[in-house]
Amino acid sequence: MTDIVSTELRDDCLIIRVNNPPVNALGHKVRDGVTTALKDASTAKCVVLHCEGRTFFAGADISEFGKPPQGPSLPDMIAALENCPVPVTAAIHGMALGGGLETALGCDYRVIDRKARVGFPEIDLGIFPGAGGTQRAPRLAGLPATLKMTLDGKPVSAAQAVDIGLCDGISDGDVLENAIAFARQQTDKRRVRDMSAPPLDQTSVDAEIANAKKRRRGQVAVDFAAQAVLASATLTFDAGLEKERELFLELIDGSQARAMRTLFFAERLSGRVEGLTARPVSLGLVGVVGSGTMGGGIAMAFANAGFTVRIYDANPDALRTGLERIRSLYLSSAEKGRMSEAEALDRYDRIQPAESWDGFAACDLVIEAVFERMDVKAAVFTELDRVARSDAILATNTSYLDVDAIAAGTRNPSRILGMHFFSPANVMRLLEIVRGKKTSDAALATALGAAKQIGKIPVVSGVCHGFIGNRMLKGYGREAGLCVMEGASPQDVDKALFDFGMPMGPLAMADLAGLDIGYDNRRSLTAGVDYEPLASALHDRLVEMGRKGQKTGAGIYQYEPGSRTPVPDPVVDSLINELSAENGMTQRPVLPDEIVERCLLALINEGALILEEGIAQRASDIDVVYANGYGFPRYRGGPMFHADELGAAHVLERIEHYQTKFGSKWWTPAPLIVELAANGGTFSGWKRDN
Ligand code: 3HC
Repeated sequence: MTDIVSTELRDDCLIIRVNNPPVNALGHKVRDGVTTALKDASTAKCVVLHCEGRTFFAGADISEFGKPPQGPSLPDMIAALENCPVPVTAAIHGMALGGGLETALGCDYRVIDRKARVGFPEIDLGIFPGAGGTQRAPRLAGLPATLKMTLDGKPVSAAQAVDIGLCDGISDGDVLENAIAFARQQTDKRRVRDMSAPPLDQTSVDAEIANAKKRRRGQVAVDFAAQAVLASATLTFDAGLEKERELFLELIDGSQARAMRTLFFAERLSGRVEGLTARPVSLGLVGVVGSGTMGGGIAMAFANAGFTVRIYDANPDALRTGLERIRSLYLSSAEKGRMSEAEALDRYDRIQPAESWDGFAACDLVIEAVFERMDVKAAVFTELDRVARSDAILATNTSYLDVDAIAAGTRNPSRILGMHFFSPANVMRLLEIVRGKKTSDAALATALGAAKQIGKIPVVSGVCHGFIGNRMLKGYGREAGLCVMEGASPQDVDKALFDFGMPMGPLAMADLAGLDIGYDNRRSLTAGVDYEPLASALHDRLVEMGRKGQKTGAGIYQYEPGSRTPVPDPVVDSLINELSAENGMTQRPVLPDEIVERCLLALINEGALILEEGIAQRASDIDVVYANGYGFPRYRGGPMFHADELGAAHVLERIEHYQTKFGSKWWTPAPLIVELAANGGTFSGWKRDN
């Protein structure tokens, strides 16, 4: 046998062992090895399929998608398991995901470790189970449960898997030994394909599909997955398999599936820095300065991962309020069944108030999350520099300010960096790690290590105004604002971008964030950072009228008391007309295609500058930021993936079109776009010459 698949005949039981680290993905060597190993099965009374390492098969090997297939295929391997002359039992530990679960369903029996989970996460890759899962799972678990797993993408626990009929026995202790004992008792084959088709309960099926369409707006895989699963109830097993294959193959090479699997790998790459060899320092105590929404969320993110956190606020009342908010957030999570009350209180207890700056003396990492003003941040760093251990790392959660300037005010700038969390910090997975000019490799490696420990997706950014995400957002917001001044209503702009796939339009978003935030930012801009006053004229006038957005019940839209639904406001329409006339503009119809194109081209052009300046390491990092921090639809892959889909020549031609129309100030194509258009290159394939 191979080093990846080996066999052991233990008395009457043939054990097929797979060892394909890190997650036993079902690459062609695995498929080949398992199929070959099954050829010896008739000498045994039973077979047990087992994986070494941390998990059972985590799915098909995603890196093989889009490449020429190498046989045997996964459906072929599963057919070989199913047609094995003696009963086959899967011994599941860790996870059985996607093709991994489908492999287990091709076995006659499944024994699962109590802590293991099984699921069909394919939908998050823009596909659905394509190796028989949509036909076999419903025969065991029924249609509603299968649809839920397929459309949700979330794994279920071992107990649930047994409960719904996907698994036959739970194992406490050694899953392989328990599976062997179980397998020896099974004398008969029990192929899932021979079981009767599931009954069709149209009402619950319709409800499940309607729910998924809402949650996964714009994702074509939902309909495809539903069709395949429903085929299990209406077609014979073989015809169902054929239907599944046909739909699967149509989907897998489509742009949505390519976008989503590109993001899958991009999210695993973004935390890697070329040339960084330093090891992360192991963290014990973590400190947080500031107990507002951001500071509290950061403290919770660390407490959730088991860290003890010291939190300090110069205002003792604010600290008390902040801690109360954290406690009530934990308790409400417990009420919603996300954790036990004991666990909630445990996590809360890990967040300890510090009475003074001296509380940070024992911390390994301190993150500042105070008011976004340079003088306020600088004062915090003076204190931290004084009290923190000399080897502690000090991070600022600033969203815009110059991390190098903050570092320059300290005795040891090499230990300073940015850790830009996204709100709510205990929920949002994106973390921009800002590497200052003097940030040491050890500090960077430690921040990246911390991100992983608290389950975040880190992206490294260089220092610039707004780093990767907020810097790009400026152009996006500018074009949205200008479209309004030129004649689109706020709801036209928001609807166009919502229909493109954004969770919310930029104007409703501005109301949600608070119009005063942008207003204050514009008044404290660093020298050299420019903005378009016309694009924010409406926002500024509204703030001056006391309309700051949702929090004041009115902004660009108005809000009924207690409601977050934006309602168009005639007062704002008149104000837009007024401002537009004041600025000598003639209003015209601005169509949805133009709105979307201008907003996206602004993102792409700034993204290209960010890339060539070396602020982002790679185009896919920018996409990770936008998909995880700004709601860019995953099925479109992110702005730079989207640009590659459009083609650099097209992007250039459209930017030049707007340059002719609106002038060069905001519409000068980034040199990188010109270069890629000239040589037929792509952002994903571009590498900076160092
Ligand atoms: N194929 C190829 N590589 C995979 C993989 C897969 N299915 N799953 C994980 N990997 C790789 C990752 O890219 C990563 O590689 P790297 O170290 O070089 O970056 C490595 O394995 C470890 O992965 P993670 O960093 O994600 O490890 P975690 O411990 O955080 O998570 C996991 C483990 C939960 C298994 C997670 O990796 C995961 O969700 N994997 C994908 C599961 C999935 O989507 N399965 C379905 C695949 S599609 C399919 O099966 C189609 C079928 O229906 C025909």
